[in-house]
Amino acid sequence: MNSYSRKCKIKHTDEMKNYERYKSLTAEDCKRELFMLLLCRIPADRKIIPYLSTLKGKKILDVGCGSGFYTKLLIEKNKVVGIDQNPHLCRLSIPLHKGDATDLSTLVGGEKFDVVLSTWMTEYLNPEQLNSFLSEVKKVLNKQGIFISTFISTYCLGYTYVKLAKILKGIDKYCYPKKEIINKLKNTGFTNIKIINLNSWLYIPWAYLVVAEK
Ligand SMILES: C[S@@+](CC[C@H](N)C(=O)[O-])C[C@H]1O[C@@H](n2cnc3c(N)ncnc32)[C@H](O)[C@@H]1O
Repeated sequence: MNSYSRKCKIKHTDEMKNYERYKSLTAEDCKRELFMLLLCRIPADRKIIPYLSTLKGKKILDVGCGSGFYTKLLIEKNKVVGIDQNPHLCRLSIPLHKGDATDLSTLVGGEKFDVVLSTWMTEYLNPEQLNSFLSEVKKVLNKQGIFISTFISTYCLGYTYVKLAKILKGIDKYCYPKKEIINKLKNTGFTNIKIINLNSWLYIPWAYLVVAEK
């Protein structure tokens, strides 16, 4: 059974409409949506999945775990805790906190992790929220802990994906240039920053897999 952290309140801001979209989804809807997303995700997963498969014996915090598409690949060999605004989407037997990515340290109550993972979540964070999220990631990581995350790029398909979300669904999503991602990570104190291009079918990076050390 999932144990929801009920102590934590969701912030009711203008950005809530982004999360409300997920509130009305079920785990099954999410699978159907993933099927559509696979059009973009297949090339990305060719890089993300082999990378995640190397993680063994780690304590991992999966922020914005959603239905647990990647989480389920990790739970056999690692200890995984999830955080999401919409924890009802996740049916995996992992400890799960309901709350915002900008409140990580409060949500996990002093617990520390070897890895903070966040896949396809940062696109919901505006620049200010992204700064808070990165600071919180740093707080909950062990010494020499690793942050692994995806970011939507400002190129071609990445930019189109973000714009279409606004035009078709009224959802605010954000894409970040490589340089800005690196600067934000450096300013937060991360080191050894690696950026792996996640290419679309046209070999243009529509997103990035980012790995950084505390
Ligand atoms: C596109 S889904 C990705 C789910 C999963 N990580 C994956 O890769 O399949 C985005 C998830 O992030 C969650 N989310 C969005 N913004 C969030 C925030 N500020 N704090 C916590 N979760 C958030 C949503 O509820 C949703 O479950």
